[in-house]
Amino acid sequence: MTTATPQTANRAATGTDPLALIDVDHVRFYVGNAKQSAFFYASAFGFQVEQIRDLTTGSRESAQYLLTQGNIRFLLETPLSKNHPAATELAKFGDGIKDIAFNVFDAEAAWKAAVKNGGESAYEPVTASDAHGTVTTAGIKTYGRTVHTFVSRTGEYALPKIKQGATFMPGFRSIGPFALNEYNKQHPCGLKFVDHAVGNVEEGKMNTWVDWYEHVLGFQMFKHFDDNDISTEFSALMSKVMASGNQLIKFPINEPAAGKKKSQILEYLEWHDMTPGVQHLALRTDDEIASVAELRRRGVDFLNIPESYYQGVWTRVEAMLKQHGHAGVKEDHARVRDLGILVDADDEGYLLQLFSTPLQDRPTLFFEIICRRGSQSFGKGNFKALFESLELEQERRGNL
Ligand code: FE2
Repeated sequence: MTTATPQTANRAATGTDPLALIDVDHVRFYVGNAKQSAFFYASAFGFQVEQIRDLTTGSRESAQYLLTQGNIRFLLETPLSKNHPAATELAKFGDGIKDIAFNVFDAEAAWKAAVKNGGESAYEPVTASDAHGTVTTAGIKTYGRTVHTFVSRTGEYALPKIKQGATFMPGFRSIGPFALNEYNKQHPCGLKFVDHAVGNVEEGKMNTWVDWYEHVLGFQMFKHFDDNDISTEFSALMSKVMASGNQLIKFPINEPAAGKKKSQILEYLEWHDMTPGVQHLALRTDDEIASVAELRRRGVDFLNIPESYYQGVWTRVEAMLKQHGHAGVKEDHARVRDLGILVDADDEGYLLQLFSTPLQDRPTLFFEIICRRGSQSFGKGNFKALFESLELEQERRGNL
């Protein structure tokens, strides 16, 4: 029942640690058709399609679209020829996340520190500059096909300016009028930032990558109340959570484990060329009910929660909250059930969460919509409850 102490927070504040992370700069997706994907993420999830870098701006290698919502920045990139590295990756993996990029004070210094700590370089520092400022990027390889890029920015390209709509980096331009942007301003989905990004790795490799985040990036194990519950006969996966020093972002690492059913992690790997990658991004909202209601209205497909789940959840959650002196769940219980939202509690409070179905035809990447009311964990209580509910449904159908 402990939470990690952010021991590097002070170093982060003074900027003396090259690996101090300021923010998630952006998340880069490789997609088969960025023009169409931009429409999907705008229409389904309410993103603003802001900027573009493509043939019209002189980029002959790839097309990139910058989508934003709250403090979330997605770059959707499509190769324009078979020679672009993304073309090979798309053939192997389909659409998915290539890069979770961190904003740092000095990208070159961060990259050097990570490499010195044992990280493998993905690409060396490169600086794009013009009269308005500079953007320096350098990348290291993490699990499977995934990269962490370090980004440092100066002048008009500084992150606070980007958040206010400044040009993302040299070569980008404003998309101009885009009808869905106005619609999305009037009908917000309320997504604020990336809460966590989950990696699926091969069986037996979870601890390798846990060590990697600790030694290469200076992350720490994020302990939470349900450590003992990490692997059950139902969940068929093992998971450990690594947190950046300032707890800016958390990276749960999953590996498959033997269970009653085929592991969802193994299914992911089988459709991902047996290569580790990002399984889901959790996007944070302050109002789970409003966000999920709007996303459902737009046609986002979520995991179906059996009615039986709600027969036990309130007793379980309210008992935990009461035991630790917290007020009960303030959201309307009937609305939570009607929207099919999951609830979990720990010693610090509760959370509401819901998982989308895969975002592409392969059963790989999906989103989680999460709202935290004190709880800093990941809904482990739902693993067992969800599987038990599913089995209950199976039993009712005579299939168990
Ligand atoms: Fe999650």
